Amino acid sequence: MKTPDADVKPLVHPDEFVDLDEIIHLCTGGEAPWLKIQEKVFAEFAQLKSAGYDGRSKIYARGEQCRQKMGKLWKVPAHRIAFMPSAAEGMNWLARGLDWREGDNVVTTNLEFPSVAYAWKHLRSQGVDIRLIPHSNWMVNEIDLLNATDDRTRVLAVSHVSFYTGQCLNLEQLSEGIRDYHTLLAVDATHSSGVVEVAAELTDLTVSSSYKWMLATHGVAPCYFSERAETETKVTCFGWHNLSVWPEQGAERLANAPEKPMPGKLEPGNPAMLVVMHLDQALEILLSVGTAKISDHARSLSKQVSDGLKDLGFIVISPQNYDSRSGNTCFQLSNAKEMQNQLAARGILCWGEYGRVRISTHLYNGSNDVRRFLEVLSELK
Ligand SMILES: Cc1ncc(COP(=O)(O)O)c(C=O)c1O
Repeated sequence: MKTPDADVKPLVHPDEFVDLDEIIHLCTGGEAPWLKIQEKVFAEFAQLKSAGYDGRSKIYARGEQCRQKMGKLWKVPAHRIAFMPSAAEGMNWLARGLDWREGDNVVTTNLEFPSVAYAWKHLRSQGVDIRLIPHSNWMVNEIDLLNATDDRTRVLAVSHVSFYTGQCLNLEQLSEGIRDYHTLLAVDATHSSGVVEVAAELTDLTVSSSYKWMLATHGVAPCYFSERAETETKVTCFGWHNLSVWPEQGAERLANAPEKPMPGKLEPGNPAMLVVMHLDQALEILLSVGTAKISDHARSLSKQVSDGLKDLGFIVISPQNYDSRSGNTCFQLSNAKEMQNQLAARGILCWGEYGRVRISTHLYNGSNDVRRFLEVLSELK
């Protein structure tokens, strides 16, 4: 007899979010809901923004506070994390800054998010081989990636958690597997940061959007850069913020200006400080609940989603073992967009496209949401 799954309760009440009282929100993998407390942050920003120099100093202080929190979340020194405008920019920074030679290669997968797969687009014409390693029945095998890596692999670029299947790759295995090569490990943590543990210290670059599992919004993507990545990468964008011009120079420019170290190095101009303040607020909540608890919660719910889907006869393409699961559970459906719309019409939000439906479970979801979703799905099937 099948043992019933434990009843998982939300870790943060859905009432803490805008408009979650009437709907079941299962689409943080696309767009997270907005925390009501962010209204206060917006009001505070508005006051500080109008308060001249003093207000600006306070905004910057909040930025540094946010950096410290990101360091805690990713367990790396805060000063190695910069605020970039998008996750795409992180990968591209590496692509633009490395000293590429003909015959070099990049290893990634054919199931990657476009910014990870195509950051290297211009390098093909310089004789760099971009290796799109095929997935195997929707799973990316770490061994396949490592077998494709050789002594000319400059970058192994992957998403920590797949946008398409929710598979969580084993970063330890990848970082260990490339140890004998001079390969940088570049990771897009957009679908892991905020929901599963991100061991950024195993990587040379970890970048994540903040509008999904980190519960903030568009315009800021924290980016960890290892010492090695910093040493090997030329800065490709200069501005007042990443050069030592003030107080060293006054009004007039000298012929040259030294580059600042991390984290300023990757921030040529002002980051989107309003969003940084929203991220700071969201991280306060995520850190107070704790990543270990959130990740166990999300993985337990994803198992309930997955088991329920299989019982209904759907083909689940997300991994079944605990460590490879994440907050995303996905199943195949040719009319995925239509199913998304039908569920939305019944108050259940998910994300459906490109032949699969993605069900995302985060800290405001519980078993009740999963049961209701499966009930409605079985009626629509
Ligand atoms: C893996 C992954 N990376 C990045 C993004 C988007 O990030 P950004 O707009 O910050 O580049 C997405 C959005 O769906 C994603 O799934």
